[in-house]
Amino acid sequence: MAKLAGKVAVITGGGSGIGRAISEMFASEGAKVHILDLNPDGATETASVIKQAGGACELHTVNVSKQEEVLAAVQQIGKIDILVNNAGIAHVGNVERCAEADFDRVYQVNVKGAYNALYAVIPVMKAHGGGAILNLASIASLVGIADRFAYSMSKGAIYAMSMSIARDFMHDNIRSNSISPARVHTPFVDGFISKNYPGQEEEMFEKLSKSQPIGRMAKPTEIAKLALFLCSDDAAFITGNDYPIDGGFIKLNN
Ligand SMILES: NC(=O)c1ccc[n+]([C@@H]2O[C@H](COP(=O)([O-])OP(=O)(O)OC[C@H]3O[C@@H](n4cnc5c(N)ncnc54)[C@H](O)[C@@H]3O)[C@@H](O)[C@H]2O)c1
Repeated sequence: MAKLAGKVAVITGGGSGIGRAISEMFASEGAKVHILDLNPDGATETASVIKQAGGACELHTVNVSKQEEVLAAVQQIGKIDILVNNAGIAHVGNVERCAEADFDRVYQVNVKGAYNALYAVIPVMKAHGGGAILNLASIASLVGIADRFAYSMSKGAIYAMSMSIARDFMHDNIRSNSISPARVHTPFVDGFISKNYPGQEEEMFEKLSKSQPIGRMAKPTEIAKLALFLCSDDAAFITGNDYPIDGGFIKLNN
């Protein structure tokens, strides 16, 4: 029996990396997937893979930072059982190298984008008897990572918002959890390596791989498997928690 049969899932940032893997896995488990992504090309690729495999997927070209765009998409969708707040951007630098515009950009997408989706989706879930929310936090929510000032700010906020939602809507049958991956090999990681470490791409990739004691980065599908469990009814007793998925990064880096 498919684990998400009959469920409707909204996945932000489903056009690439982790969001793509989650979209494909949720669709293969019977969910109708709605991707909210800024980049229609990536989202179209995800949708065509899903449709070729016999799954159901609809695209909504949305900038999650814009509340009116998120509200309009959610209104079109109707019933929603699952929300995955996944859209996110990176910034490398300590506070001295984080200009106001960098800070604002990361805040707008990673923090306000998640708030906008929560603001739009919670009333729909309440009206339909509940739902499951999964927020993409990070190891940067939990430990000090060098040169990730703005990014850590945003992922700390995700961690805290996820718990706040879990507390406030428990009696509406809404569960909210977060996952905290270490490095996952996606265009997000390749992008910030090539932008911030030009000419040192291979060395930096190796360094970031080895920073997980397990010796490599995660694969997006490994993150999607945990997301599937947490968003399925198998996790009905789990709410208000964060799950590191980190190749030993937090506890074994000694
Ligand atoms: N890759 C990692 O190592 C890693 C580790 C921990 C947490 N995360 C988190 O996981 C999430 C996904 O990361 P990824 O590596 O798959 O990233 P990615 O860059 O591969 O994909 C991000 C997706 O989000 C979309 N997006 C970006 N800004 C948007 C906006 N304003 N509105 C709508 N869509 C937007 C992009 O178009 C893209 O499709 C992010 O929240 C990231 O912070 C990633």
